[in-house]
Amino acid sequence: MAGLSPITADIDCKPVQDMVKDGDEIPDKYVCKDFQFGTIDDDVPTTDIPVVDLKALTSSAACGKEELGKLQSALSSWGCFQAINHGIEESFIDEVNKVSREFFDLSMEEKQKYGRVADDIDGYGNDMVLYENQTLDWSDRLYLLVHPEDERKLKYWPENPKSLREILEEYSRRLKLIAEQLLKSIARSLNLPDDRFLRQYGDKPVMYARFNFYPPCPRPELVHGLKPHADGSAVTILLQDKEVEGLQVLKDDKWYRVPIMPYALLVNIGDQVEIMSNGLLKSPVHRAATNSEKERITVAMFCSPESGRDIEPVEELIDDKRPRLYKKVKDYTATYFQYYQEGKRPIDAVKI
Ligand code: OGA
Ligand code: NI
Repeated sequence: MAGLSPITADIDCKPVQDMVKDGDEIPDKYVCKDFQFGTIDDDVPTTDIPVVDLKALTSSAACGKEELGKLQSALSSWGCFQAINHGIEESFIDEVNKVSREFFDLSMEEKQKYGRVADDIDGYGNDMVLYENQTLDWSDRLYLLVHPEDERKLKYWPENPKSLREILEEYSRRLKLIAEQLLKSIARSLNLPDDRFLRQYGDKPVMYARFNFYPPCPRPELVHGLKPHADGSAVTILLQDKEVEGLQVLKDDKWYRVPIMPYALLVNIGDQVEIMSNGLLKSPVHRAATNSEKERITVAMFCSPESGRDIEPVEELIDDKRPRLYKKVKDYTATYFQYYQEGKRPIDAVKI
């Protein structure tokens, strides 16, 4: 996207939820004009995304080996899979869904108590606006750093609904363990020692929660709920809306709808695992579509390496046939946002 000029202060935007309530015309800055990843179609086919059983993954029996094979195949082709048997009770998943909905159902005045201020990432509101002509997403979100714990910005942590803090705390504690277990399994699926990715990931990984709210849009063919992007994380774990579909993944230059699988967690790797795996595993480009009838809520948890860590392809995955593809990076997510909002793929900046 040429011709974008950086801005220093964030533009003040009305929450999308309010625009819908007030029946506003769709402002031009939401209308997608960049079609490098294809147009917004309403006839995107649906497909079965690979399913991986997390319990079987850690089994020492034959099924463990088979599941590792599925994991490796899913991540080298799709870059994502539906995780089942992840150990989080359905009743608790329901609570996470419920508290997310309750937050977005609060009055605007109440939500704005946690409103993001310019130059901050955390808080409730629109996405960061970094460029004057940046196309905006048809969504509002609540973004919170959850780990490391001592870096939380509690002023953005809603006290209403009452149980949100506690549920987020518990949910992130559980997902932190799942992410670590996954990184071990991913290493093993590539015939590497268990700790190969974890060594780079570190003991104080960074985890962000992002509650996404997609209001219905009268003209879904014009806007993105979330524009095409790959995540800057190591691993992202997404809790999809239980009833309303919207996520789409790009594979071999074609878009596919990701079906809802109740109580499964959609796992995708982010750019930092693509880098560590020297490109053997793919951080998938994905987007969220809107629809004209129903609102949609999702909760994405971004698990990233400890800050200050060097992230680079692991040695065992570099050889004459497969030369090193990526430079060493540090604090990748910091540079990520600039590229992302420009509509470019941040990972292209670190390719050799
Ligand atoms: C994200 C994301 C997809 C969705 O938050 O990075 O890709 O369906 N979300 O909400
Ligand atoms: Ni994403």
